[in-house]
Amino acid sequence: MLLDFEKLAPRDGYAWMTQTITPRPIAWVSTISPDGKPNLAPFSFFQGVCSNPPSLLFVPTNNRDGGKKDTLRNIEAVPEFVVNLVPFALAEAMNSTSAPLPYGESEFTHAGLAPAPSAKVRPPRVAAAPVSIECTLDRVVNVGSGVGAGNIVIGRVVAMHVAESVLGADGKVDPKKLDLVARLGGDLYMRTGDVFKIERPAGGSALRG
Ligand SMILES: Cc1cc2nc3c(=O)[nH]c(=O)nc-3n(C[C@H](O)[C@H](O)[C@H](O)COP(=O)(O)O)c2cc1C
Repeated sequence: MLLDFEKLAPRDGYAWMTQTITPRPIAWVSTISPDGKPNLAPFSFFQGVCSNPPSLLFVPTNNRDGGKKDTLRNIEAVPEFVVNLVPFALAEAMNSTSAPLPYGESEFTHAGLAPAPSAKVRPPRVAAAPVSIECTLDRVVNVGSGVGAGNIVIGRVVAMHVAESVLGADGKVDPKKLDLVARLGGDLYMRTGDVFKIERPAGGSALRG
């Protein structure tokens, strides 16, 4: 079967892309409004970019009315954010923060989540998250216009909080202890517990985790 994306409606293209480009990590992004009200929302169009400078990206797409999501509005006004990672234990809470609340209403309160102060940026982090990555805004790159268009938010990583409880005896992150969820198509998710190892060929990049 061949899908011609030049003829597909954006909604159908979205369905095929999100069911095939999997699994996607989830950035659970906290921001604040200019008057200091916190906001929290999940984004699975999310990835690291590079380590020099340490950078990541996530993509708030435009709303069904073509407008900006609260997260983007906040970042444009207060150019700092925290990417919290989502373990299985917080999956339901993460999902509840995707509810479209009125601007200025806190998803921390809505989901019963405690905020914790960040070290270098103003938005709070999710206290219960095993990893929280503090970022300042590098730039926003707009892709397309109207409903479903993307706004690639590129962030400069300035600090990372890592819970001791997810570290192994070697001091590295143990993926089974981290137990993150990743997004598949629709309402489906998976967990990062099914781990296997492949040694890399000799040579190549010096940057290996
Ligand atoms: C697991 C998950 C992943 C999501 N990924 C995205 C995404 O990558 N981009 C996006 O615009 N919305 C995504 N959403 C929907 C937003 O979370 C939702 O629109 C939210 O209300 C936006 O909040 P805000 O208006 O406070 O920024 C996702 C929702 C869930 C549950």
